[in-house]
Amino acid sequence: MSEREGQNNFKQRLAAVERTLAHEVQGRVAGLTGLTVEVEDFAVPVGAQCEIYSRNGTTTAESIGFRGNISVLMPLGEMEGISRGDRVVCTRSEASFPIGEQLLGRVIDGNGNPLDNQGPLLCQCRRGVNSQRLQPLDRTRIDTPLSTGIRSIDALLTCGQGQRMGIFSGPGVGKSVLLGMIARNTSADVTVIALVGERGREVREFIEKDLGPEGLRHSVVVASTSDEPAPTRVRASFVASSIAEYFRDQGKNVLLLMDSITRIAMAQRQIGLAIDEPPATKGFTPSVFSLLPRLVERSGKSAKGSITGFYTVLVEGDDLSEPISDTMRGLLDGHIWLSRSLANRNHYPAIDAVESISRVMPDVVDEEHQQSARDITRLIAVYRDIEDLVNIGAYAAGTSVELDLAVQAQPVINRFLQQNIEEKVTFAEALQNLDDLCSVINQVTSQPGNSSAGNSSANNRQQNQQQPKNKRAPLGLERMMAGL
Ligand SMILES: Nc1ncnc2c1ncn2[C@@H]1O[C@H](COP(=O)(O)OP(=O)(O)OP(=O)(O)O)[C@@H](O)[C@H]1O
Ligand SMILES: [Mg+2]
Repeated sequence: MSEREGQNNFKQRLAAVERTLAHEVQGRVAGLTGLTVEVEDFAVPVGAQCEIYSRNGTTTAESIGFRGNISVLMPLGEMEGISRGDRVVCTRSEASFPIGEQLLGRVIDGNGNPLDNQGPLLCQCRRGVNSQRLQPLDRTRIDTPLSTGIRSIDALLTCGQGQRMGIFSGPGVGKSVLLGMIARNTSADVTVIALVGERGREVREFIEKDLGPEGLRHSVVVASTSDEPAPTRVRASFVASSIAEYFRDQGKNVLLLMDSITRIAMAQRQIGLAIDEPPATKGFTPSVFSLLPRLVERSGKSAKGSITGFYTVLVEGDDLSEPISDTMRGLLDGHIWLSRSLANRNHYPAIDAVESISRVMPDVVDEEHQQSARDITRLIAVYRDIEDLVNIGAYAAGTSVELDLAVQAQPVINRFLQQNIEEKVTFAEALQNLDDLCSVINQVTSQPGNSSAGNSSANNRQQNQQQPKNKRAPLGLERMMAGL
């Protein structure tokens, strides 16, 4: 450990000691309204962990606010049996959980307790859920691509190590399945997955089906289902971020997958409304809009390692202007839009390359790759403009060189964009496939008698390419053509 690291470590521990309450704080239950318990003369900070001793046993609770000398707690368990005058004790001044390498391959809940029946977590240290975030100038620039194992993302929407991406879609379009594919196929050293507000059935399904034993080995899963109390659900997202930060500080490239931001926002709304926050847009309280940047800003690249964040956002009614989607799009370094119309045609992953963007792509790929991606995206957009005409047979070939090319290239582009759930595509393969795709388009356009021959930028680029690249094309080309 360097001298500077040692000093930082000491400062962190000293700060933790200073934050610790010097004496045991006790209070008595004074009232109970909706989901909150009011405790008289109970001076504890917001976020403190408490225990309520009632006739039914002990209930854990978290302090979420106070009014005058009344502290407001939100129980993390059953409220039945709590009555006026019950004793309340503060057990921790802030939420923390066990941390260490032992977390790899484990499934834990929002409080850091194991959920997987694999025995206790034998970690020597604990970590606060709100650890220090990276200062703007401590962030290093994003300049290295991260392989997601998804061909269309790596080729057309390349992500960088330390980037924050959103996966947006309406319900049931394939966000969770795509996240599972990324978790299984990524080249990141460690994957931290937060499943927040999911249906209970989905957690086991995700771990066994989408992630699999191979994926789980280099992952940590933090799960908090929809039936858990709101503070636990919100905390699960912070616990996952904190675990990702731990591994980043060890020099690892971490992938943080969060499913879903919308459900975390809904949990925070529940907390906000319980302490009389005024509802702002669509019932979401101001604290929701302050929570989102705090959460997203925890990803990023430091001198030691990186956290690449993928956050799923449920877009109600497929309306991207609804408040959570709108806020998230402003906070992230790019978004992947999953289209229902593609999913309805069984085109998976239903990534709409035209509506999606990776803002750091120009910093992590070379000019040639960018140009190829732009060419393909343009052909998809051009085809979309005339798709209806083509479908009713009203499109007359020869109208425009570009339109003809878009129509002819459409089947190979679709084949390129689709990927089976089990199929793993490495970054090199994705680039090879992109080259092959340009070759196929080149071949289509250079057929004798084809009016669009020699006029596309993809075609020009291919002709300008050095010989070895063109030589590699036929193998992949045959494979792709065979799939049509
Ligand atoms: N790559 C894929 N290949 C085949 N089918 C898929 C694929 N992705 C999604 N599906 C189908 O779509 C269904 C819904 O997917 P998923 O659960 O990922 O949606 P979601 O967007 O996460 O939904 P919700 O918003 O309810 O969480 C899956 O059960 C599956 O049938
Ligand atoms: Mg889902």
